[in-house]
Amino acid sequence: MKRVTSWMKNSVSLFALVGAGAVAPMLLTGCGDLYLPPPIGNGTGTPLTNYVEPIAGPSLEGPLAILRSAVAPVPAAVAASPAKVSLGRRLFHDPILSGDNTVSCASCHSLDHGGAESRVTSLGIHGQVGPINSPTVLNARFNFVQFWDGRAADLREQAAGPIGNPLEMGSSVEAAVTALNANPQYVDLFRAAYTDGVTGPNLIDAIATYEETLVTPSRFDRWLKGDEHALRADERAGAELFVSTGCVTCHQGVNLGGTSYQRMGSVRNYFADRATPLTDADNGRYNRTHNEADRHFFKVPTLRNVGLTGPYLHDGSRATLDETVRVMARYQLGRDLTAEQVTNLVAFLNALTGELPPNARPAPGEVPAPAAAPVVVAAAEPEHRGHH
Ligand code: HEC
Ligand code: HEC
Repeated sequence: MKRVTSWMKNSVSLFALVGAGAVAPMLLTGCGDLYLPPPIGNGTGTPLTNYVEPIAGPSLEGPLAILRSAVAPVPAAVAASPAKVSLGRRLFHDPILSGDNTVSCASCHSLDHGGAESRVTSLGIHGQVGPINSPTVLNARFNFVQFWDGRAADLREQAAGPIGNPLEMGSSVEAAVTALNANPQYVDLFRAAYTDGVTGPNLIDAIATYEETLVTPSRFDRWLKGDEHALRADERAGAELFVSTGCVTCHQGVNLGGTSYQRMGSVRNYFADRATPLTDADNGRYNRTHNEADRHFFKVPTLRNVGLTGPYLHDGSRATLDETVRVMARYQLGRDLTAEQVTNLVAFLNALTGELPPNARPAPGEVPAPAAAPVVVAAAEPEHRGHH
């Protein structure tokens, strides 16, 4: 509870009213004194100059007004050097960065799957099964830290991780630079984007610059900005439940998540009830801090595009959004929802699916076709091994 309180400094009135399950008084008094979540640009290494957009919706009352205060629309994509973005796009999709030319970033973060993967946990080179489900790269720049346990401060710090991770791409930034230098096309593309050509920092910068363009405005953003017709009645009902049941106490900010660490199983013991044994990855933030109070704390994931990114949760244990929403209500809020409530909440979550920017995908033939799915050879106890 201590952690929750310290985090809640930023949104104390939301927690007091919503988290305590006493939203009714709020509905009468309006929400003029609600705090917005902390600026999401903090910690991403890239200031989001246009983060603080005015929320222009008409002054509704009740849960929907709270939602408009607690979540900001995605900012318009910032202009970035086209040469860097297209180089980064190519690198992101090219298995050349992996030790045996079989795995690219997109293998585990497919734009066809909401920027995540369809597997329970990741499959790296040589068919190695990783310890944890891959989060989406879409809108990742708005997360206050990167990774489930926050071990990278921003996208640049993050990007070197998977290349060097033996379970993922099984290479190193140095080896990748050597491979890229041996490829005349890449040498030219790097020179066009960076005066000093192919270097480790430029490789990382190009990938991160591309990732920063992966911002996906949705119908929900149109609604946030005041277009009442952008959401259907069932989606609006779900939006109200999202506030009145308390989801928004943790899932807030531009990303409806990505502003704090929270315990998985805030009110009931999720891990005791789960059918499978505890893994190292289940420790979450504790693995970084070795502070007992951080055990089972995870960065609250974004809910943008969550309709596309199943299976869900860090352990990939839930196949559907229905099931995941029930788990959240039960373990994070101590509530059992009716079937209708679940349906409406899921309708709302599906309205968070946004549009990729033009040219997010590589042009046909730009990168080699993905390698055939590797044969799984080493699934034994992956949770005891390092991950990026
Ligand atoms: C083998 C699968 C795999 C590959 C390849 C891979 N990733 Fe990941 N990625 C993951 C997993 C799993 C996580 C979560 C790990 C964790 O939090 O412990 C992750 C986390 C991330 C995150 C953090 C997102 C967030 O919200 O915390 C970003 C950004 C990311 N990867 C980008 C990349 C980039 C860029 C590449 C290529 C250089 C890449 N990934 C390659 C599986 C992969
Ligand atoms: C106490 C904080 C808290 C509350 C309240 C909360 N969540 Fe979560 N939510 C989390 C955390 C932490 C995770 C990641 C847990 C994990 O992966 O083990 C998560 C994960 C999710 C996911 C899975 C996302 C993914 O990409 O795998 C969905 C969907 C979700 N929450 C929806 C909801 C809904 C709907 C509600 C309200 C009924 C809700 N949450 C209430 C903290 C919270």
